[in-house]
Amino acid sequence: MGFNPLDEKGLPLDQQILEWDEANIEPFDRRDVHPYTRTRVILMNGIEVEGVLFKHQMARHCDNMDVRRQLAITRRVEQQQQKMVNWLIPGTQTNLEVTLGFEQVAVDLTAWLAKTEPSAHVKAALDFALLEDFDHLYRYSNLYMMDENRDPAEIIGDDLTEVFPGRPTAAEHRHPIDTVFEPAPADADLLSKLHILTIVAAEQQTMNLYMNIGNRPVDMLGRGLYLEIAQVEEEHVTQYESLIPPTASWFERALLHEYNECWLYYACMQSEPDERIRRWWQFHLDCEIAHLHGAVDLMRKFGDKDPMAILPSELPEPLMIFQSNKEYVRDVLAEQESWTINREKIVEADDKPGTFDQYQSWVNVGAIPSEEVIAVNPREYRLEVLGPVAHA
Ligand SMILES: [Fe+2]
Ligand SMILES: [Fe+2]
Ligand SMILES: [Fe+2]
Ligand SMILES: [Fe+2]
Repeated sequence: MGFNPLDEKGLPLDQQILEWDEANIEPFDRRDVHPYTRTRVILMNGIEVEGVLFKHQMARHCDNMDVRRQLAITRRVEQQQQKMVNWLIPGTQTNLEVTLGFEQVAVDLTAWLAKTEPSAHVKAALDFALLEDFDHLYRYSNLYMMDENRDPAEIIGDDLTEVFPGRPTAAEHRHPIDTVFEPAPADADLLSKLHILTIVAAEQQTMNLYMNIGNRPVDMLGRGLYLEIAQVEEEHVTQYESLIPPTASWFERALLHEYNECWLYYACMQSEPDERIRRWWQFHLDCEIAHLHGAVDLMRKFGDKDPMAILPSELPEPLMIFQSNKEYVRDVLAEQESWTINREKIVEADDKPGTFDQYQSWVNVGAIPSEEVIAVNPREYRLEVLGPVAHA
């Protein structure tokens, strides 16, 4: 049985703004939250941040006062949603613990999108970057163990997501001209468009996070590791946003943003074991349904296409976005660890472009923080749930 957000009324816009006390939500308990509840929170925070930034950009490109006012109204709600979601993270979680959660999102979200992606082109991009965020989780886990003397499994769980080397972070530094893919076609499957929007938002929020908290470690090694990985997240945002069909109108993009928010909150609701948080997912879904109706109206009035021709009669089945992908990650790693990119083509190690060596010769001179963090750790951290993996 499918769910069609267009058949629902949602929550009227004038009931969406809450009083401070209600919006200032109680955080979850860092000790007993399910790791995938944490990843849902991280993902939906990234989705809301993208919703806000997109509407700012759209308003700056728009000369119609009615549209600009309408954008201001729903954007204020997106802002409130962003805080309500992000404020679920407790102050007792350290920056590195937040970071481990972000890289767990990058691993398990990317793997799930890749597994369910209809386009071979988009799937290839997802599989490619999956191995890089997987490696980030390993590097940060080792930093966390050294700096905070705790077990990363307390955050990511002890059997959901494995931790060991992926494509080594040092080998992820590609020349910028080798980070831009061909876009998906304008008539790509709706599911591909939702997947691209989702991964762009998630990677963008990781990029934003490291831009802001990368300077919080006291020691030079920690600061260096954030610096290095933050530059890879810039590559990831570049590669994923390059997949977005570039010819869609602002109105079509706005419609897809709201539809994606409906789709993801519906998925969060379906899979959330925490009853209190599940009720908030429902609240956000009800807000998004009203935003979606608003976007349909705007597109009917000002857009170049019939919104109904773009949206399906029911939501593509999202169900369990966060689930364990241990075998999948191992399979992709066994095949693609040494792969890189030449212009817009993913290539095997033998076909590395000259630009790869050129860029590497600029950055990987002297100590490389992502290598250093393993070398100086007296007890290398790994979490090999399915058994030991041979050393790279
Ligand atoms: Fe939203
Ligand atoms: Fe990452
Ligand atoms: Fe990433
Ligand atoms: Fe929205």
